[in-house]
Amino acid sequence: MQYKRILLKLSGEALMGNRQYGIDPQRLKEYAQEIKQVVEKNIEVAIVIGGGNIFRGVAGELNGMDRVQGDHMGMLATCINGLALQSALEDEGVQTRLQTAIEIKEIAEPYIKRRANRHLEKGRVVIFGAGTGNPYFTTDTAAVLRAIEINADAILKGTRVDGIYTADPEKYKDAVKFNNITFKDVIEKGLKVMDMTAFTLSEENKLPIIVFDMNKKGNLVKLLSGEKIGTVVDN
Ligand code: GTP
Repeated sequence: MQYKRILLKLSGEALMGNRQYGIDPQRLKEYAQEIKQVVEKNIEVAIVIGGGNIFRGVAGELNGMDRVQGDHMGMLATCINGLALQSALEDEGVQTRLQTAIEIKEIAEPYIKRRANRHLEKGRVVIFGAGTGNPYFTTDTAAVLRAIEINADAILKGTRVDGIYTADPEKYKDAVKFNNITFKDVIEKGLKVMDMTAFTLSEENKLPIIVFDMNKKGNLVKLLSGEKIGTVVDN
């Protein structure tokens, strides 16, 4: 097994399934079942989930709203998704802990790095909520930050496409997928993997990013079993 500890980044939108907003219980269950299989392989799993299915601050959902206010709403949205994922995982018999970057201690543990590490060592899935706890930072940045803090071997970014392409594969049929690419090449070719803050943080700390299609059943487990799934970005 290539990875011992991973950080899985899920987008909030992915939880919508075919809905326009909110959480699709079926999709949530599928994710939980997939994650369970990874835990059963004795891989330590930490998760950061976005909140875009509930609130999209930056996209200007509430026109003219103060950015900081919007980002705070987004942080709360990630906590809602974190609670939902926690429930779904527990329904599958997976032990979990939810830790949040802003204190809501009646609902979840506050984020404490050392404690997160202990939970992971005990085989619990740790979900990190509320992003970095700061406005102006995306959940991708939170995912990279937490991955570095807990010494994850890689960050697995679950998306709707099965990797990084020479151009947007949803627009250009002749776009070609990369199996491997360096951080430098991603920047030089102007490809989009994560926002620059997240991306450079990952590069500076030599944290590989794997972009893969999380909606294809079995993909996550296959990837972690060493199959060539998605695109690996590293130094
Ligand atoms: P170990 O003792 O290391 O095995 O970890 P543990 O998480 O089981 O121990 P702890 O006694 O800290 O936690 C027991 C339960 O309370 C767990 O479900 C935690 O998630 C929960 N818990 C711990 N701290 C907090 C907190 O600050 N807020 C909330 N809401 N729950 C907490």
